[in-house]
Amino acid sequence: MELSIEAKDLTKCYKSQKEGDFAIRGVDLSIPSGQLYGLIGPDGAGKTTTIRILATAMLPTSGYAKIEGFDVECHPEGARKLIGYMPQAFSLYPDLTVIENLNFFADLQAVPMERRKERIEELLAFTRLDRFQKRRSENLSGGMRKKLALACALIHEPKVLLLDEPTTGVDPVSRRDLWEIVAEVLLQGVAVLVSTPYMDEAERCHQVGILNEGEILTTGSPKELGERLPYQMMEIIARPRRTVRDAINATNGIVNWRPVGDRIRMAVQNPDKVEKELVKSLKKAGGNIRVLRRTKPIMDDVFIHLVESSGDKDEA
Ligand SMILES: Nc1ncnc2c1ncn2[C@@H]1O[C@H](COP(=O)(O)OP(=O)(O)O)[C@@H](O)[C@H]1O
Ligand SMILES: [Mg+2]
Repeated sequence: MELSIEAKDLTKCYKSQKEGDFAIRGVDLSIPSGQLYGLIGPDGAGKTTTIRILATAMLPTSGYAKIEGFDVECHPEGARKLIGYMPQAFSLYPDLTVIENLNFFADLQAVPMERRKERIEELLAFTRLDRFQKRRSENLSGGMRKKLALACALIHEPKVLLLDEPTTGVDPVSRRDLWEIVAEVLLQGVAVLVSTPYMDEAERCHQVGILNEGEILTTGSPKELGERLPYQMMEIIARPRRTVRDAINATNGIVNWRPVGDRIRMAVQNPDKVEKELVKSLKKAGGNIRVLRRTKPIMDDVFIHLVESSGDKDEA
């Protein structure tokens, strides 16, 4: 199978980094056309570094990356024509209007004149920015700017779309619009790599790579990652809080727990046994259980597990 995005052992050490330090190390990617790949990780994980290398904005220290077969180091101009890249930082010309920005990017990408007008109209409708054509981009809301940046990245109908945190700090309506645009682009067979610090956005992706401190800890579909979790998830809503925490700490088989809103989420080894023990000790301590049940793993659970177990490895 020909891959749209391929990377092998991608490693980057910035010049200013100390000997032995790295921004990313050993990153592998295989993304076919029409697939949405989510690079998920906290600040500093190496998302931007990875994407900038794929976008031919920067060379790797070692390893290689290919876009539709073009090596980003040996044939960057071949790769570049096929890439739509939306950087994390503001990438538009603030004093140009919406339509002027689109025309500017069409010039940059040498979009043929006869296709240009139609393409810009398509994108304006697609992003619902048609009403704001004459507004300067500096006067757009954060969400609208991101949509315009996405439209600019799509102007030349790229085969590969690289989106660096497109939804960070974006209002819910624009966020939904952005995901709808991505869904449409995927249907046209574009391979999309999106980075996000939001674990819940991973659920939208066909394949996810969990990046932490420059290394991909695991990859797979969100469902596969959930199934690979070596324990079950439970949640409890009970009072008083103090009593509940004491009971949880005294119960065997609870691997980790954390408060989430009004409940406590627990990773447990043997749900039946934990349930019995918790009920018993809470009753004894005068606690009041409203809810105690099993629940499906979410991406946060996967992330916490992976980070904790990679920490164990380091200590060993
Ligand atoms: N230009 C740079 N020079 C030195 N170190 C950098 C540079 N850019 C990023 N880093 C470091 O590389 C690591 C990964 O950063 P980055 O790729 O920006 O992560 P993310 O996008 O996931 O927040 C961080 O430790 C960061 O401090
Ligand atoms: Mg970043």
